[in-house]
Amino acid sequence: MRKKIVAGNWKMNLTLEEGIKLSSEIKDFVKNNPLDNLPGKPEVLMFTPFIHLTAVAENAADVQGLGAGAQNCHTEEKGAFTGETSAAMIKSTGAENVLVGHSERRSYFGETDQVLAQKTEIALKHALRPVFCCGEVLDERNAEKHFDVVKEQLEKGLFWLSEDEFAKVVIAYEPVWAIGTGVTASPEQAQEMHAYIRKIIGEKYNATVANNTTILYGGSCNAKNAAELFAKEDVDGGLIGGASLKADDFCTIIKSF
Ligand code: 13P
Repeated sequence: MRKKIVAGNWKMNLTLEEGIKLSSEIKDFVKNNPLDNLPGKPEVLMFTPFIHLTAVAENAADVQGLGAGAQNCHTEEKGAFTGETSAAMIKSTGAENVLVGHSERRSYFGETDQVLAQKTEIALKHALRPVFCCGEVLDERNAEKHFDVVKEQLEKGLFWLSEDEFAKVVIAYEPVWAIGTGVTASPEQAQEMHAYIRKIIGEKYNATVANNTTILYGGSCNAKNAAELFAKEDVDGGLIGGASLKADDFCTIIKSF
């Protein structure tokens, strides 16, 4: 059975002190509400800025089902890339996850499908689990190109992986028009795209791989709408931005399966 996941993407928010406080509040919640006893038995991840990562990963280490991740990594092993952070460095903090291809990385930092394929490769090489983001902009949806756009992102970013490698990846569908806008995809829109993603994974690999792939929804998912999104058959949890910055809201989302 595929894993359910609730993941917070803190983006470029919170000082170190604020981030440690938030992760401690989430940890306390998870200690008091063992994830295996909650509906869906979700895994809970915190994607933090690099500055926070060591402390948050250490904080999460002794709690079953709680983990940390980085929001990005560089394509190269190491070297003269001032300001960048490698997959090996991330792994050395104790974090086990990394976001790849968030739409903000694609649009503000020019990350191409080819670069994202390289990031996926180096993440897997260092035993980091890539959470690979995909999703269309509003014009593409209005032009009814959203399925084609997502298919191309997955084909170029991921579908060159072997079956064993692909099995280690989590996908996050994040329609760009829903990110930070307060406009959420309807549960039906999310389900339709998630089912499509699962279908093309089945065509590329096989039904077992497709069934076992965790596909998260992201984009204005919050404490009020998470339950109806997570109720959909192919929505295996969420990648949460704004609502992950408040412990109460995030913990409500964790309980929304
Ligand atoms: P919001 O939840 O703030 O819309 O952000 C979603 C997101 O980009 C998560 O990666």
